[in-house]
Amino acid sequence: MTAPLIDPFLRPITYLRLSVTDRCDFRCVYCMAEQMTFLPKKELLTLEELDRLSSAFIGLGVRKLRITGGEPLVRRDIMSYFKAMSRHLKSGALDELTLTTNGSQLAKYADELAACGVKRINISLDTLDEAKFAEITRWGRLPQVLEGIEAAQAAGLKVKLNTVALKGFNEDELFTLTEFCAARDMDLTFIEVMPMGDIGNENRIGQYWSLEDLRETLATRFSLADLPDKTGGPARYVRIGETRQRIGFITPLTHNFCESCNRVRVTCTGEIFTCLGQEGKSDLRAPLRASESDTKLNEAIRAAIALKPKGHDFDYSRQEVAGQMSRHMSHTGG
Ligand code: GTP
Ligand code: 5AD
Ligand code: SF4
Repeated sequence: MTAPLIDPFLRPITYLRLSVTDRCDFRCVYCMAEQMTFLPKKELLTLEELDRLSSAFIGLGVRKLRITGGEPLVRRDIMSYFKAMSRHLKSGALDELTLTTNGSQLAKYADELAACGVKRINISLDTLDEAKFAEITRWGRLPQVLEGIEAAQAAGLKVKLNTVALKGFNEDELFTLTEFCAARDMDLTFIEVMPMGDIGNENRIGQYWSLEDLRETLATRFSLADLPDKTGGPARYVRIGETRQRIGFITPLTHNFCESCNRVRVTCTGEIFTCLGQEGKSDLRAPLRASESDTKLNEAIRAAIALKPKGHDFDYSRQEVAGQMSRHMSHTGG
């Protein structure tokens, strides 16, 4: 039996977030610069290589696999990868196969995803106002995402919305978003905006809306009861008494959740990042390509995890943005 993946702080690593492309059909202002240079296609791992890599992690004890991007569903033929991964669900080696998506391609793919054993997906949506949506995504169309949400629910997928909390942008939509999700039996998670990437937008402090404040505002209208964590993700959840829906809070800034971190990220070029908020990375592409056997790859994965840091050092205190990362969120998939 192989030894499980345990990092230097004795945290078991059971969750892999795999980015399958750096490309996206949107350009959210907090995520990407308007003019992005994307990787040449030949730099990307092939779908067969993504399969081998994911399977190696599963062989080492990963139980939850989340596919991210960029926008994962813009990767050509990505459904063949999902189909291939469904064998790990069938064999019982994997508990959950899922993805985080902007929703733009869901009308096309929701049924196929469900057929591959995907049960629950996270969709990023920051506003329900068409003009504001076009502004924040730079050229996304809200109706396309709303159709995607409907298609996902019609396919039987459980949907959670992820909303980045942005001061002066969606503060006024807190109750609208909550009610939108309540009416559709969807969970809703708010995320504190993290200082990542040179996005040509230096107004980070101006945008930052602490989720402590957001929660207080929510509590003026609804009764909130804390819930124990069940997803293995970073969100802490409350249940709204009046609507029975769950609201999650991802608070890297006000409440660091690093101590229970169970995840690593791999990019579409095979770099492993053991922390979203640190620059440290190791290469898995060379060991993957070096041999047909997984021995070198498994060693490289263990060596990378042995370097996993204790936590991130994002910081918005002293009214300056410390810990600014040069890497874009789209590079590691959030
Ligand atoms: P669930 O399985 O639904 O709990 O998913 P999740 O929250 O793990 O995944 P999702 O892709 O929805 O994550 C939402 C966002 O939370 C990510 O895009 C990141 O912005 C943030 N996040 C997730 N994991 C981490 C982490 O380890 N550190 C930090 N700082 N932020 C994270
Ligand atoms: N801070 C917080 N969340 C971000 N996301 C993208 N960039 C940032 C950032 N700088 C979110 C997206 C999506 C998820 C993949 O990451 O909105 O929900
Ligand atoms: Fe695309 Fe998601 Fe980044 Fe927006 S946040 S540009 S949808 S990858």
